[in-house]
Amino acid sequence: MANITFSSPSMARDVTVYAVAGDRGTILAIAKANKIPIPFDCQDGECGSCLIEVKHLDPLAKNAIALTEKEKEMLKQLGKITKAEIADAEVNDMPPKHRLACQCFVRHEDILVAFEGDKTLPPPAPQASSAARRYKGGMTIATPADFMGYAAAVEADAAAHFDDLANAMRDSKADEIATLFRQLAEQSRRQGEEARGAANGAGAKEIPDDYVWPHYTTPDSDALWAGDASLSRLDALKAALQGERRCYEFYCAVEATAKSPEVAKAARPFIKAEGDRVKVLEAWITREEWSAKH
Ligand code: FES
Repeated sequence: MANITFSSPSMARDVTVYAVAGDRGTILAIAKANKIPIPFDCQDGECGSCLIEVKHLDPLAKNAIALTEKEKEMLKQLGKITKAEIADAEVNDMPPKHRLACQCFVRHEDILVAFEGDKTLPPPAPQASSAARRYKGGMTIATPADFMGYAAAVEADAAAHFDDLANAMRDSKADEIATLFRQLAEQSRRQGEEARGAANGAGAKEIPDDYVWPHYTTPDSDALWAGDASLSRLDALKAALQGERRCYEFYCAVEATAKSPEVAKAARPFIKAEGDRVKVLEAWITREEWSAKH
């Protein structure tokens, strides 16, 4: 059982598909079956056009695999495998970061597959949904320091939200989901502290006085979260996802509408981090729903 999330600048949004390990062959075969536009040509490890980057969403579950000579040689030719990765592949059978989709088989692990796609196509425009416009609240963020002030508050709320959900899951004996929420809380907390340090260092207030978030709350604290002790595993994951999506959309809206290029630039690492957390939560939800059905 595996969730594969495909991500590319050539796709309007990421797509997660559920695959049964060993059943459907290579990542390229799964991509083709789901109309994911990974470029390919030879389908035999000899042209390098199906180059992908594979990220394991649960690093602890990274399984050893014997890399074929053909794939190793092609990755070397493409300059996409380091000496250390070659040694790790040869000695420990550990897969490198880059792979060839036509040579990479699905296994029992959740992965993110990133690829460049067809560079002759125009990149899709940044997406700012109506939710994003709502959660930006119509405010103008003039400087990177002010943006960091907002980000510090958003991330602190996100961490608190994850902590609440982790406690609920611990009480429900859903320990692995509680652990996931604690890890995500830690990421948000660390990011919020860095943002706070950057804001304070530049003399910004933590939250500028004129902020107009709906209901005077940050995107995440406004997310669905009933504090219900009987919250199911799936509901908890969905509540977490809703919060993270709102944060993600908030940062996307800042980037898409900022008048200052520096503010847009400051928002990008937060978009990336929130996007990664959204993908992790979507993968867990897909797996949870699959388990419920089977
Ligand atoms: S399609 Fe040619 S190496 Fe994969």
